[in-house]
Amino acid sequence: MAETTWFQNKHIVLGVTGGIACYKACELARELGRRGAVVQVVMTESATAFVSPLTFQALTGREVRLSLLDPKAEAGMGHIELARWADLILVAPCTANTLAQLAQGQAPDLLTTLWVAAHCEKAIAPAMNQQMWKHDLAQENLQRLVSSGTHIVGPDSGIQACGDVGSGRMSEPMDIVLTLESALSRGPLAKRKVVITAGPTHEPIDPVRYIANRSSGKMGFALAEAASRLGASVTLIAGPVYLQTPVGVSRIDVETAAEMFEAVHQSLDDTDLFIGAAAVCDMRPSHPSANKLKKSTDDLSHITLTENPDIIQSVANAKNRPKLVVGFAAETDDMLAHATQKLTAKSLDIIIANCVENGQIFGQDDTQATILSSHGDAQVVSGSKSQVAIDILNTLSERLNTRI
Ligand code: C5P
Repeated sequence: MAETTWFQNKHIVLGVTGGIACYKACELARELGRRGAVVQVVMTESATAFVSPLTFQALTGREVRLSLLDPKAEAGMGHIELARWADLILVAPCTANTLAQLAQGQAPDLLTTLWVAAHCEKAIAPAMNQQMWKHDLAQENLQRLVSSGTHIVGPDSGIQACGDVGSGRMSEPMDIVLTLESALSRGPLAKRKVVITAGPTHEPIDPVRYIANRSSGKMGFALAEAASRLGASVTLIAGPVYLQTPVGVSRIDVETAAEMFEAVHQSLDDTDLFIGAAAVCDMRPSHPSANKLKKSTDDLSHITLTENPDIIQSVANAKNRPKLVVGFAAETDDMLAHATQKLTAKSLDIIIANCVENGQIFGQDDTQATILSSHGDAQVVSGSKSQVAIDILNTLSERLNTRI
């Protein structure tokens, strides 16, 4: 057992809803118990089709609560008492159906009623088919929960029980526990909402070809991981990259600058800190072809380009502007002068300047950066991208916590 843990002596309602990931909730219940928590499992009716309540009773030592209208259970601890008893309601797995009910404040059963009735910490570990997870409505529901302060853990990507490959698998029990531990323990970014863009964007010329850049996304992913470890609730909006989603981070995949723009503005409400670490393509082909262009019949010597919107500038000038807007400047020459000029032109609070002369830094694990602030101070940080990310986030959290 961990030496000190947020879970010690905490009362946890573990909500289990009907998906195949129910089997992982058994291990989760055990892990929470090992950390000293008192775990009360509440199952929806469809969850009982996957795992027997008796399994959870054996693992937690408490009878599982199944029904809102259960006179026997209500005589012991009624649903309102149970809502007051809980320090944390954790719904894992959280199906698309339950996600929608929680986001809309519907209360057709015991679990959803507890959610509305309780004022405690709340968390979900979504689990659903990748197509359902990607659906606009599921993403809207998710954003509503994020805005109301719910901690989101996962989902993971990979092969799903239905055979599909993609994002939607429930996170591993240990990842859920560790993520919540850092979110609920009071790190310097506890209760802060952070949105980070990362990676390149791809701007299609035709279905096969695109304009892109050399960004690997490593720095943005390292920042997302660091922010989550320091206690923030993190949304990572990623261009096409080959990187694993950091534990505890909610990820939205996009391809083009226009999609990134949309995803950023949909996620912006109540954001404390926005970090634009993406290398957004400045231009896109004006008329991408629906069919593959052929050198025999098409003129391949010219591509007409249109300027993409400047995402970070639009964030800095938005009505719902985050408290702190932080950009990156990758420069090949006159790094500090160019970065300072961008800091002002884009109305940023802080810019992190990298020297990328001769392709340095792109795709590598180490980096060096200068943190320039609108107050005029500068701080140089260097080392692995993970270490630099922690240093940057510590500096940003100090600034965030001293701002009025
Ligand atoms: O102007 P430049 O591309 O060098 O500025 C880099 C900063 O601006 C980065 O933070 C990047 O994420 C952001 N940016 C953006 N939208 C663009 C271009 C850059 O958000 N279209």
